[in-house]
Amino acid sequence: MVVMKIGFIGTGNVGKALAQLFTHAGNDVVMSHRHSVDSLKPLVDKLGPRATAGTIEEAAEQDLVVLAVPFFAIRELPVPFPNDPIILDVTNYFPNRDGSIMNLEKHEEATSEFVARQLHSDKVVKAFNTIAMARITSLPKPAGNARRIAVPIASDNADAKATVAKLIDAAGFDTYDLGSLRDSIIAQSDGPLFISVGTKADMTARLANIKH
Ligand SMILES: NC(=O)c1ccc[n+]([C@@H]2O[C@H](COP(=O)([O-])OP(=O)(O)OC[C@H]3O[C@@H](n4cnc5c(N)ncnc54)[C@H](OP(=O)(O)O)[C@@H]3O)[C@@H](O)[C@H]2O)c1
Repeated sequence: MVVMKIGFIGTGNVGKALAQLFTHAGNDVVMSHRHSVDSLKPLVDKLGPRATAGTIEEAAEQDLVVLAVPFFAIRELPVPFPNDPIILDVTNYFPNRDGSIMNLEKHEEATSEFVARQLHSDKVVKAFNTIAMARITSLPKPAGNARRIAVPIASDNADAKATVAKLIDAAGFDTYDLGSLRDSIIAQSDGPLFISVGTKADMTARLANIKH
């Protein structure tokens, strides 16, 4: 089991749900958003003793940093993050919400590649962006369970991807390896894996049907 110090930037649907999953799996989390640290007290009280509140800068100092903000906010974060953390990119790009970025709309660049470039990081791992957070805390299952949900995962950094895969496994999910950040285009908001919940076998079947 991997136990990590995880910083969250963003405490909305994604931040709350993944912090719950990760603290249940024994990890420590530092929750942050763009308002006062004190305003996070009710959330960290609810998450329990493994959770603390901090500034965005303090969250960004952790071993792994979860991007749980709207895509447009990526450009407003203080970069580069100190300590060169693994960055778990859960964001989705929606042109209507986030503004038109032509190379993303044309798929000349994956949104996760854009994130890696913006944050000056070669340790970005894309995961969890395809799963609706309203349900996710009810989905974990033990390893080996035939109905265990698989989380699509992608990265250009094999070590970072392996670390996040262990974290995901400890949180109660399999992973479905999409390959590189460029390969994560199929899991973006206009791709075939978006909002698709299924096992590893379900994912394989779904992609086989799309390819043929
Ligand atoms: N909701 C889902 O089911 C789901 C699933 C997978 C992926 N995603 C993606 O994950 C990301 C987060 O979604 P969400 O549903 O958690 O959004 P959300 O509920 O709106 O929460 C976003 C969080 O980011 C904070 N934030 C906004 N702008 C910021 C900035 N410039 N600097 C720092 N923090 C900022 C917000 O703070 P304020 O309260 O001050 O605005 C809030 O804490 C999005 O890209 C979304 O597409 C969502």
